[in-house]
Parts: sequence; structure tokens; C-alpha cells
Amino acid sequence: MNTKILTLDTDNFQASDLEEAAKLLRDGGLVAFPTETVYGLGANALDKRASSKIYAAKGRPSDNPLIVHIAHRKDMEELADEIPDKAYQLAEVFWPGPLTIILKKKALVPYETTGGLDTVAIRLPANSIARELIARSGVFVAAPSANISGKPSPTNAKHVINDLLGKVDMIIDGGKATLGLESTIVDLSEGAPMILRPGCITKAMLQNVIGAIEYDPAILTREPKSDIVPKAPGMKYRHYAPEGSLTIYSGELQAVTEAINTIAREKMECGYRVGIITTEETKHHYHYGLVKSIGSRKDEASIAAGLYGVLREFDELHTEYIYTESFSDNQFGQAIMNRLLKAAGYQVVKV
Ligand code: TXA
Ligand code: MG
Repeated sequence: MNTKILTLDTDNFQASDLEEAAKLLRDGGLVAFPTETVYGLGANALDKRASSKIYAAKGRPSDNPLIVHIAHRKDMEELADEIPDKAYQLAEVFWPGPLTIILKKKALVPYETTGGLDTVAIRLPANSIARELIARSGVFVAAPSANISGKPSPTNAKHVINDLLGKVDMIIDGGKATLGLESTIVDLSEGAPMILRPGCITKAMLQNVIGAIEYDPAILTREPKSDIVPKAPGMKYRHYAPEGSLTIYSGELQAVTEAINTIAREKMECGYRVGIITTEETKHHYHYGLVKSIGSRKDEASIAAGLYGVLREFDELHTEYIYTESFSDNQFGQAIMNRLLKAAGYQVVKV
């Protein structure tokens, strides 16, 4: 398949620039587009043939449901039934933005889109290209992250092109995804509100609006346990993973840098390509391997925004062993550590 590439400036484009992309979505095609979290691979969410194509292009397991993207808050009512007040409260405060809300689905939402579930995940993205595309297409847009299943989510168009060129109708290049981590997912479809995937919108921020909310116990575990199954099917897969073996070193920072220096030297002496994920504060302490800073410890948002790009850079360099420092796991850090643990297949060395 011939994939068209459309390059647009998020802050300065004409709505009509998106007409061809909108038409592709209306006609059942696949269009990858930027959002403020990560790039999405979109298709008409109510057309089961269209959303099935997403699974094929990504190599995604069919039981892993898709998030349905909307252009206006009230569209939530077209897709969901029995919407609790808390959903309206969250939508009012956090939409448009990096929050996905899970609700009971209406019959018109096909099981091909919800991975066989009776619930539907809904998000109103903030990125202006995404919103205009959805609005102009006139359809609701099912969109998982625009990567091959299992790889790190794409935070720029080059990542999408690497994974999906020739497999989708169009890729819209709108520059960098500013946040760099996928949306926070909140389940309001039954009983007590629950966070199924941590993200930029933290537990404390949610609590301020709707009161008590808990994490799905599965996302707090430091190792995959067969008896604790995550409620978001996508959270059970090894994910966001680079091709090389990634290990997290945790503990006091100075001890961590020493341990990483030791293991990096050993691996290099054996002839392996080694990468180290570090931060602005500590990058000068490493003496071996390819050292990449993902951001500053004083600015968690910079770390979130840098993580996936660095994992992909190490893939391009065919790095065989990657070692990373760990990060605090409160609030926003919870989201960063959640992704890092999955990317590492839960390999953690405590020093
Ligand atoms: O930021 C984001 O959310 C990005 C952008 C493109 O919007 N999208 C994204 O989609 O991360 P994806 O497909 O990579 O992740 C969606 C996650 C999966 O873990 C999936 O299992 C979960 O949401 N999910 C979707 N619908 C669900 C449902 N009805 N119940 C439970 N989990 C659901
Ligand atoms: Mg994904």
C-alpha cells in the first residue's frame, strides 16, 4: 500500500489541509496522526471492518480494545450508556487532554473496537490537528498508539514511518508529541473509580475532582503475577520494549551509577554494544557505552517526553544491553516507572 505523508504545523494549519485525511477515515481507511500524548493510528470506530484493519497493521492481539477519540465532550453520550456524574466532572476539567474514561458502551460501538468488552474507552485529545481531523471526518476515531504492537509508542512521525510505512493510507507529521506518555485511563464503568493506566494526569489531580480513586492493583506490582490480571487488557503485554535487553538499576543514585559503570564495562569487554539511560544531573558520571540523557530529574515532564525516543534511538544503534537509572514512583513518576518496568520486562537490580 502506498502511504501518503502529510506534514503540518500544529499551531498553523488550515482546516481544509485535513480534508483528504478526513475523507480517508470516512471511507474506512487508516490514518496515523499526532496527539499530545503519542501518535495514534486512527480508523472509523463504528465501522468494524475499519477498526479490524488497525489490528492487522499493528499486529495487535484482538482482545486488546481501542480508545475511541471524539472531538466534542457531548459526543461521549453517543457512545456510552449510564454515564455517571463523575465522568462529566472529569470531562469538564481534563478534556481536551490526556485522560481516557471507560464507560458502559452503547450497542452501536462494535465489539471489534472494544476487544469484545461491554465497555468503551473514550478520549477527547488536545492536539489541534487531532481534534480538527476527528471533527472534520464526522466519525469517531478508534486509535491505539501508532506503533507495531510491543514496541515503544511513537512520539514523532519518524517513529510512525519506521513502523507503519506501507501499512496505512496516510501518516500526518505534526512534529513532536509534547507529553510523550500515553493518557491516564480511568474506569468509571462500575462501582468505585479505578486508574487502569497511570499517565500525566495523576491520582492526586483526579482525586481533587471526583474524590476517592484507587489504582488497579495490577499496575502497582513490581513483577508480573499470574493471579493479578490488569483490567486494561493492553497492560498485560510486555510493552514499549526496545530490542536490546533493558535492566533498571534502583537504589541510592551514587551506588546506581557505580553499578551501571561496572556492568557496562563488563559487557563492552565482551564485545557488546551498551547503552545507558541517564539524566542531566548524572550523565557526567558514566564512562562506558552510549550515554543518553532523557531529561532532568527536576522536571519529570521532560523525562516522560524523552523516554520512548531514547528507547527507539538505542534500537537504531542496535544496542544489545541497556541500563537505566530508576525514578521516583510518586504521582507523575508512577507513570514513568510503569512504562519503564514493562519495557524492561520487570528486570530490576537493587543496589
Ligand atoms: O494517549 C493515548 O491514550 C494514546 C493516544 C493515541 O490517544 N492511545 C493509546 O492507545 O495509548 P493504546 O491502544 O496503545 O492503549 C489503550 C489502552 C490499552 O491498554 C487497552 O487495553 C486499554 O487502553 N483499553 C481500551 N479500552 C478499554 C476498555 N474498554 N476496558 C479496559 N481497558 C481498555
Ligand atoms: Mg499502545
